[in-house]
Formats: sequence, C-alpha cells, structure tokens
Amino acid sequence: MNLKEELEQKKQYFENELDKYMPGESSYPEILFKSMRYSLFAGGKRLRPIMLIEACEAFGGDAQKAMPFACAMEMIHTYSLIHDDLPALDNDNFRRGRLTNHKAFGENIAILAGDGLLSYAFEIMSNAVVENLDINSAKAMQAVAFAAGVNGMVSGQTVDVICEGKKIDKQTLDFIHLNKTAAMIVGAVKAGAYLGGADEKTIEKLEKAAIKLGIAFQIQDDVLDVIGTFDELGKTTNSDEKNDKVTYVSLFGVEESKNFTEKLSNEAIEIFKSCGDNMDFFVELTKYLIDRRS
Ligand code: FPP
Ligand code: MG
Repeated sequence: MNLKEELEQKKQYFENELDKYMPGESSYPEILFKSMRYSLFAGGKRLRPIMLIEACEAFGGDAQKAMPFACAMEMIHTYSLIHDDLPALDNDNFRRGRLTNHKAFGENIAILAGDGLLSYAFEIMSNAVVENLDINSAKAMQAVAFAAGVNGMVSGQTVDVICEGKKIDKQTLDFIHLNKTAAMIVGAVKAGAYLGGADEKTIEKLEKAAIKLGIAFQIQDDVLDVIGTFDELGKTTNSDEKNDKVTYVSLFGVEESKNFTEKLSNEAIEIFKSCGDNMDFFVELTKYLIDRRS
C-alpha cells in the first residue's frame, strides 16, 4: 500500500470514531450540532489526528487511548477554520469544497459552532483524563491546550490579523507560521507521543521535527494559494493577495518558497529518523506533504 492509500484508510477509520464522539444532528439545539457537524465532516485531510494516533502507536500506545485527543485536535482545527473564514477575518466563501460555515448557517451560528467545537474538545479530553487517571493523558491535554491557545495558534492568528496590509519581515512571518500552523502539528505529535509513553528527551526531538514540518506545511499552503486550483483545494485561491497578506511567496517567490519547504522537510526527516525505530510513517508523511497539491 502506498502512503496515499494508507492515509485514506487511516482517515476512514478516524472519521468513524469521530462520528461516535460527536452528538448527532437531532441533538438540541439542532442548528448548533448541524453547523458543527457540517464543518467537521466536510472532508478535511485529518492530518493532525492521524499524526497524533501514529505518534501514540510509534511508542507502543493504543489507538483507542489516543482517540479522544485525536478527535479533540480535529475539533479545535475545524473551529479555527470556521472562525478564520468569517467576514471579520479572511472573509472566505468556500472551504473544503463547500460553502463556509457562516455562508451556510449565518455568522452568529458559525461563531457559536466554533465556540462549541473548541469547548467540546476540552470536554472530551478532560473526560479521558478523568477516566484514565494517568499523568501521560494529562500531559497530552496540556500539549493540545498549549498549541491551541495564547502560546500557539491564537497568538499566531493575532499577529497574522494585525499585520494584514503591512510590510513585515521574515522573522515576523516565521512567528506567524510557527504559532498559527506549526503549533498544532507540534501539539498533535507531542500529545500522541506522551500517550504512547515516549520519554522527554525523545519528545523534545519530536517537537523540533514537528516545528520544521509545520512551517514547511504552511509555506506549501501559501504556495498552493498561488499555484493551486479551486478543484484541488476546495477553496478560492489567491486569498492571501486579496487580503493583502505577506507570505513566503510574496517575499521570495514560488521557486524560492519551494526550496525553503524542501530544506525544512529534509531537516525534519533527519530528526524524525533519530527518534526511534518506528518513525517510518513520519518520514514518509513529511516527504509526501512537500509534494501535496491540496
Ligand atoms: C489548513 O490545514 C490550515 C492551515 C494551514 C492553518 C491555518 C491556520 C489557521 C486558519 C488558524 C486560525 C486560528 C484562529 C484562532 C481563528 P489543512 O490543509 O490540514 O486543512 P484540512 O483539514 O481542510 O485538510
Ligand atoms: Mg487564513
């Protein structure tokens, strides 16, 4: 099986589980759960939860133990996309091949669906921590909280928003990428590794690799915004230019941005390889993500 097929299989398995964790559309108030499910089951790649589960298994842990944390990760990621698309932020009409949440349900419900996904994520993780009563589950939740909040994604997004329309340097752009995007990838890998029982030294190395992979992933995202098509990406392209955003592409051009991606990915691969004998998935995934078209 090649990696693409393997990812598709893992995605199917995860989505079945995610469905079980999420209240059905007939739960009251229906509009809230419909709206949450609309974006949650809109065909994302599920990279963060897959990475979390894989990291857990790589260190001898069980996928079922990782599941509430993996679901939480995808709920937080989906909330961030819903809010990112709002008129007050990127004002986008399409995401994952369908209308954005606020276009389908209205701004008020879209804001609440995001709030609901974020808080529900912490509800299911804290339920798991209470049930498992072990320090590694608590550390996994801590890693996710750190990644999602003011030490990660929310701060990255804030700097992204306040820099719109301004000329910024590479250092500021790297802060945005590190926090807005790489933090959640780091959070997924670290949470999984804690659940699998990896030691702190290995987790420090995994963090370094995941940072590089995460920044490369965002640079590639910016490249795809310029060279990709609506059909490939499921969203309107050239959004960064429209929103007057500085990106690697606007600073360095497409070719040089691709070189940055390749260099960071190769560095990430070397670090992953030094994290143990079960790192093949992360090595292959990193290679695969450099060449992704969606
Ligand atoms: C696409 O992920 C998303 C990113 C590259 C990250 C962008 C970051 C934000 C939108 C942060 C927003 C934060 C707040 C607080 C509003 P993907 O390619 O994995 O998407 P998929 O899940 O649809 O496949
Ligand atoms: Mg955005």
